[in-house]
This record gives sequence, C-alpha cells and structure tokens, in this order.
Amino acid sequence: MSSVSTVYIHWPYCISKCRYCDFYSIPCARDIDHTRWLTQYKAVLSRMYTLYHNDKITSIYFGGGTPSLLPTWFVGEIVDHVHQLFEHTANAEITLEANPLTISAHEARVLKSYGVNRISIGVQSLIDMDLTMLGRTHNSAQAIRCVREMSEIFENISIDMIYNRPHQTTTEWAAELDEALNLPIMHTSLYELIVEEKTELGELIRTGELSPPSDSPEFFERTIEVAAKNGFEMYEVSSFAKHEQYHCHHNQSYWKYEDYYGVGPGAHSRLTKGGNKVAIAQVANIDEWLLWSEDPHFNEEMLSNEDEYKERLIMGLRARTGIDLHAIDERISTRYGLKNKLEKLLKNDYAVSDGECVILTQTGVSRLNLIVRYLTNRVAHESSNQQ
Ligand SMILES: C[S@@+](CC[C@H](N)C(=O)[O-])C[C@H]1O[C@@H](n2cnc3c(N)ncnc32)[C@H](O)[C@@H]1O
Ligand code: SF4
Repeated sequence: MSSVSTVYIHWPYCISKCRYCDFYSIPCARDIDHTRWLTQYKAVLSRMYTLYHNDKITSIYFGGGTPSLLPTWFVGEIVDHVHQLFEHTANAEITLEANPLTISAHEARVLKSYGVNRISIGVQSLIDMDLTMLGRTHNSAQAIRCVREMSEIFENISIDMIYNRPHQTTTEWAAELDEALNLPIMHTSLYELIVEEKTELGELIRTGELSPPSDSPEFFERTIEVAAKNGFEMYEVSSFAKHEQYHCHHNQSYWKYEDYYGVGPGAHSRLTKGGNKVAIAQVANIDEWLLWSEDPHFNEEMLSNEDEYKERLIMGLRARTGIDLHAIDERISTRYGLKNKLEKLLKNDYAVSDGECVILTQTGVSRLNLIVRYLTNRVAHESSNQQ
C-alpha cells in the first residue's frame, strides 16, 4: 500500500477544440446532464477507493477539457466526496484548470469556499494573432483580465503558455514571456509546442501553410533565462515557480511516481496493488464511459518491473526532485547498465547525485529526451555492466 496519492478528475468538455490539442476533449455541443455525470464520478471514485485503498490524498486536480465550465456545486460535491472517502493532508492542494471567459469572480469565490485553492489558467499566448492561429476562443486582453481577477481571489495562480509556435522568434518569445511573468502569478507551466499529428495544426504544418517549430535549444534556454530574470525558478522541465511553496503538489506526485487515481473519460491511474503498480485507463469516449461507470470494472494492466523502471525514469528525470535510486529494482538497473550510464552522465555534468537521488542539471534537462532514451535502452551484455 502506498501511503499518499492524488486524485485527478477529468472533465472532457471544452467550448471548442483548439487546433494543437490532442487531449481527450470535445466541444460542448449539447445539453449535459450534470447530475448524471456527478453520480458517475462519485460511483467510480468510491469503487476505486474500495479496490485500491490509499491512506492519504495530497491533492485533487480538476483537469480537462475545461473544468471551469462545470457548475460550481459540481466541483464542491466532488471535493466533499473525496474528503469523505480519503484522509487528506491539512494543506491539500485543490486545483481547477480554467480557460479565460469561462470563470467569473463570483464563481471563483464560491469555488474557494468549497476548498479550491489553486487556479491554473490557460493563457497560451499574449499575441492575439497567435491565439487565433492556435484556435483559442479568447484574446490576450481577456486572458490578462482573467488572471488579474483571479489573483484578487486566489493567491496561488498558475498560467499555461505555449512557445516555439509557428513563425515565432526567440526574441519575440522572450518579450512575450517577460510580459506574462509580470502578471500577478506564482507559477507558470511553459510548454514547448508539440505538433500532434492528428490535429488541425499538424495538418497545417504538414501542408506547409504554417512553419514547423524550430528544433533549436535556444527557445528552452531563453525560457529559463527570462523566467530566472523574473524570479521564477525552473523545478521541472515545463514548470516554474516564484517560491518552493508554489511547486505544484499534484504534478510532483507524478514525477515522484506516487499513486494517483484518475477518474473520467480517458483518465489514467497508477495504483499500488500487492506491492506492484497497476495502470488503469478509463475509456476515452463519453457515451461509453457513462455506460461503463454504471458498474465500473477496471482493466488493470500489471506493470512489469521494466515498465516501472522506465516510467520512474521518464517521470523522475523531468523534475528537480530527481529519481530515487533506492526505489529502483537492482536486477533491472543491472539489465540496463544504470550504474555505468549514470557515472557517464555525472562525469559530463549532465546530472548530479548525492548517492540517494540523481538529478539532471540544466544541461542535462536540455537533453532530456536523449538521456531518457539512453537510460531506458537495455545493455547488450549484462555481465559487463554489473552494479
Ligand atoms: C489539457 S490542457 C487543459 C487546459 C485548458 N483546457 C486550457 O486549454 O486552457 C493543459 C495544457 O497543455 C498545454 N498543451 C496542450 N496541447 C499542447 C501541445 N500540443 N503542445 C504544447 N502544449 C500543449 C496547454 O498549455 C494547455 O493549457
Ligand atoms: S487546449 Fe484546453 S481548451 Fe483547448 S481543446 Fe485542449 S483541453 Fe480544450
């Protein structure tokens, strides 16, 4: 039994589909029976709690989709239900993702009274033309107004931005980021654009209508530089905070490979059962999910030690907390020649270690994908890489 875990609630609806987005989200085209949805979320949570019981919840995260489209009472009911089931830590973080134009000051105050204490706002860009290109429904003035309004109600505000967009230069991005970081926020998630094949943006790039993102490391380097100049420290490859107290608890649980309960269409969970991690994916289709949740049965995939090793590395190397060497199965680390590989990373200043944990340096983080690939490739001759 793992003692701490987090809860993720996936609300799949959005006002419309953004051109770059490959998350399971669909435009709200019809009336939604919120009472039915609430009953189903509660039923799934209760069933998961019974089957995979953890001691404590350190955070609840309402993500999506656009959970700020939910009626406030719905959020309050879910928070109450989670609190009824689980013990929660006194300073549990409760985050709600919000899109500008979908949350009012009044709603925010009600949400706060229900325990929500962190708002993550999808700003994405402060350039109107780019917001249109990305398929966002708001302009930059509306996004800024939303951030300012929310900051009068919540102390812990985060914004999401996407950089290395088609036709963007690093100088333009640096100026835009500078402006964004002067908003009243404590945290920001800065994502380098991923061109997802099946999206509208993917198609526009494929046909040459838009230019592909640059593959230069300069965007990432400028991002860290501008963030630092504005007092934001990078504590994960996409996450920056003004102070340690504003590090996102929820995401940290992923990077530390703690358990999490994901509930909703397309949501994923990692839970400990009999000392092993199991992966559970809920069906990414709203009609099927609603039917399934009438009597939820979970298709568990028991993760092998190798799967677990890879996931631990993929998640852990992203963050300043690094990977806990004691948590890695010795036979697996031998199979992957981990000791020798880590020594090479340390020697080249790609990582630091105190013998308990390994943490990538900034140079290492800028080569994250390469390093992950290097560490998750099995060595040809195990015997030559004994630990
Ligand atoms: C799942 S979305 C939900 C947030 C919220 N619905 C919104 O869009 O404002 C979380 C964040 O992932 C980022 N994101 C989504 N697709 C992306 C992509 N293809 N490349 C980079 N970042 C992406 C966006 O910054 C977005 O705010
Ligand atoms: S980026 Fe956010 S608002 Fe846009 S479609 Fe994806 S989940 Fe919905």
